[in-house]
Amino acid sequence: MSSNLVILISGRGSNMRSLIEASHKPHSSYRVALVLSDQPEAKGLGVAADLGVPARALPAKDVADRAQYDQILCDAVLAAQPALVALAGFMRILGPPFVRTFAGRLLNIHPSLLPLYKGLHTHRRALDAGDVRHGATVHYVTEELDGGPGILQARVPILPDDDESSLSARVQQVEHRIFPLAVQWHCAGRVACRGTQVFMDGVPLDRPVIWNESMR
Ligand code: GRF
Repeated sequence: MSSNLVILISGRGSNMRSLIEASHKPHSSYRVALVLSDQPEAKGLGVAADLGVPARALPAKDVADRAQYDQILCDAVLAAQPALVALAGFMRILGPPFVRTFAGRLLNIHPSLLPLYKGLHTHRRALDAGDVRHGATVHYVTEELDGGPGILQARVPILPDDDESSLSARVQQVEHRIFPLAVQWHCAGRVACRGTQVFMDGVPLDRPVIWNESMR
């Protein structure tokens, strides 16, 4: 039986699409039960609906208080009985009660080689620093922004002619590979998080697994 995944988005939802498409493969350990967006105009809502996944907006602007919004969101997510919640370009910071409710079953994808470049504008910051490589990381969410323990990380080269847009496109290609794989691992019971310790096949990880093409 496959596990329910709930995906939270704010924008175009290309990572969400990769998660839904991977869930349609024969040996998927999960099904996407629900997509929620805090932005009613998020393009990803239409993409999800076209792929047959229930999708709706919970507009944050209608709710005065951040804690109240988190509670409404939490109730909507819990109603879908998720084994796992994936933040796929969800641009709101979730408060401690939400994070605690989903401790060990809340994943985020961040466009950098964490712990480098937490927060925004990661591609620009990597270029400005003169880095020769960049990438993306899937990690469990804790109360520290972009600070939870990593599961899987993909590296890409930074090329001499890169700008933010070319680099971001290269990073997105690998994001679309590692997010579905990390979700697959979690829902199949291969990876788990207790406290801030990640276990892979029962073995504690002290850093994220570095992704390569052959991983399943
Ligand atoms: C991705 O770059 C992801 O790393 C970050 O938000 C972006 C979402 O892009 N958290 P998309 O909406 O999935 O295309």
